[in-house]
Amino acid sequence: MWILPLGAPKRERATAGSSWLVARGSRLTYTLRTMGHYLDSVPFSGIIRIRDMMYSVKDPFRLDQGDVSFDAPDTVKRAMHRAIDENRSHYVQTTGIPRLTELLARKVRDVNRIPIESADEVLVTNGGIHALYITCQALLEPGDEVIIPDPEWPPSAGNIASAHGVPVPCPLHEDLGWRFDIAELASKITPKTRAIYINSPQNPTGGVLTRADLEAIADLCRERDLWLVSDEAYEDVLYDGVEHVSPASLPGMYERTIAFYTFSKTYAMTGLRLGYLAVRDPKLRDRMKKVLFYTASNIASVVQYGGVGALEGPQDAVVEYRTELQARRDLFYAGIRDKAAGVLSGAPPKGAFYAFLRIDPSWRDMHPSSHESISWAMTEDLISRGRIGCVPGVDFGASGEGYIRFCFARERRELTGALASMGELFAAESAPR
Ligand SMILES: Cc1ncc(COP(=O)(O)O)c(C=O)c1O
Repeated sequence: MWILPLGAPKRERATAGSSWLVARGSRLTYTLRTMGHYLDSVPFSGIIRIRDMMYSVKDPFRLDQGDVSFDAPDTVKRAMHRAIDENRSHYVQTTGIPRLTELLARKVRDVNRIPIESADEVLVTNGGIHALYITCQALLEPGDEVIIPDPEWPPSAGNIASAHGVPVPCPLHEDLGWRFDIAELASKITPKTRAIYINSPQNPTGGVLTRADLEAIADLCRERDLWLVSDEAYEDVLYDGVEHVSPASLPGMYERTIAFYTFSKTYAMTGLRLGYLAVRDPKLRDRMKKVLFYTASNIASVVQYGGVGALEGPQDAVVEYRTELQARRDLFYAGIRDKAAGVLSGAPPKGAFYAFLRIDPSWRDMHPSSHESISWAMTEDLISRGRIGCVPGVDFGASGEGYIRFCFARERRELTGALASMGELFAAESAPR
């Protein structure tokens, strides 16, 4: 807040901040001005609207949110208990407690094969979403373009726009296993392009980029002098023996890549909010540290000790989750073939835990008066009549129209309940009248 004399020049007032006190003789008049206009054009994710709709449904099947039904491993819980008992409740280092950053640097080097040299290259964040926020704020100048996949997890475009950047969608193709056509990706690069954001395994499609895809994207980044933002939130959620490749492990790529990760999916810690990023460039890292400090000061100390517990302990839970998720994927897709054949279709994903299914356009004929968007129409119908949480494909980008997303990381009985409900709805609709 600023105090300005009434006659202060307009320009001075305009730059003064979000509100000011104007002196009128002996009286002070408070005038509120909002300065973050650009935020009005940043869209909210439809997932928020769906969450609200789900609260009004009795006994819902929560296949809408990207949250696993597992609980955090005991190693995490015990480490957090210990930290509380030992009064580890004070401020800690901005970029993360030393034991955690050391363990993370080792993991990034040994598992992701990224040539990280020191724990200083790791920043601990408030979940993966915060790592993305920090990246966009530190990397982008106003008007910088960032190419993103379409469809894509809505916070990618939202965070780019919040940093005054411009998200440029590039389609992923279902017939390529939800991967880019690399020539099409190259055609999106302009003199304003600053970075390419990729997310493999991908939300919402479950698509996984191959090593050859990543090499081709790396070539583009080197040739066109671009940054690569690599969202590896689902690095541990891969099926059928598919390998995860971190693009920063490719020759010369770590220098121009920001790789970020989360404990949310790997260790079922969604509500605890723990993520991290790895970056080599010291100048960018300094900027990132400022954003980290000014938005969080440090990440919750007790949660960081939970992260230490997760990494120091055995990794059995991660393997168990993956095995169980693959079984749930197969159960869900068998159910879709059985209960929704003809209405919903798609190949089982290679990664992440979402079924991104194509809606048969003829479903529209039975719902002539519903929403303009078929994916919203079906979402509203499945929620209101079937109690089934889901997200319209169009919420993930224009290329997602005509599709609908279900999360299959839920309990098996929740999945079978949702499938039975879906079967009843679709059977009633196809019955002769
Ligand atoms: C693609 C993708 N990236 C990053 C995240 C970040 O997750 P969190 O902020 O919980 O770590 C998510 C969460 O759903 C996601 O789907």
